[in-house]
Amino acid sequence: MKIIQLTDIHLPEGGEDTMGIDIRANFNAVLTAIEEERPDHLVLTGDLCFHAGSRRVYEVTKLKLDKLDISYSLLSGNHDDPEVLADVFNIGHLLVGEELFYKRKLGHRTALFLETSRGYVSDRQLAWLDQELSHLRGPALVFMHHPPLTAGVPHMDNKYALQNMEEVQQLFFTHPALVTVFCGHYHVEKTLCLNNLVVHITPSVYFQIDWRVASFRIDHARPAYRVIELVKDGGLRSSVVYV
Ligand SMILES: [Fe+2]
Repeated sequence: MKIIQLTDIHLPEGGEDTMGIDIRANFNAVLTAIEEERPDHLVLTGDLCFHAGSRRVYEVTKLKLDKLDISYSLLSGNHDDPEVLADVFNIGHLLVGEELFYKRKLGHRTALFLETSRGYVSDRQLAWLDQELSHLRGPALVFMHHPPLTAGVPHMDNKYALQNMEEVQQLFFTHPALVTVFCGHYHVEKTLCLNNLVVHITPSVYFQIDWRVASFRIDHARPAYRVIELVKDGGLRSSVVYV
């Protein structure tokens, strides 16, 4: 099964200062590439909106995604509103209170989708995650917005990291098998490993951050997406494509 992950589109409503980057053009270029890739499924790992959750942005995004005629899953980032997102994309039944977290079969695997809109994984989700991991036989596949490991990206690690990162890590460490996480939020391409946890950070559709410097600096604005191929026996292949 071939999955494409898109993250941190940050589509503006209009009039925002996008630092000279044409985000719509970036998004359209990625959508054209996806049309050629013909994956079996798409996963959008949050920050669909430029700054704050916007019904209009979700509506525009939904129109574009529906045109592709490829099934997709979504989760909410810190620049999203999970309730408005769920409403526009007709996935209100997946809301647990005001949080959007759920599991879904992708091929022969069960993928877990977490919600970190407020910058942390809530106690309610930690309890759910604990239960889901304990029922899983074999490796775990998780999608979330925030990376659960620090990434050597000073601007993000110091200011915008997952607030209860260690708590989340400890939970993943209790799973007897490999845990693979696909996330975004950092606007970089990185793969990180600690114990049984492998974290793939996927670069943004908007711009990439220069992780070599301590303060915020844009590295480049080539949009990207990630191809994930789920293979037999719980394995997977993954690579990032810059458009
Ligand atoms: Fe984010």
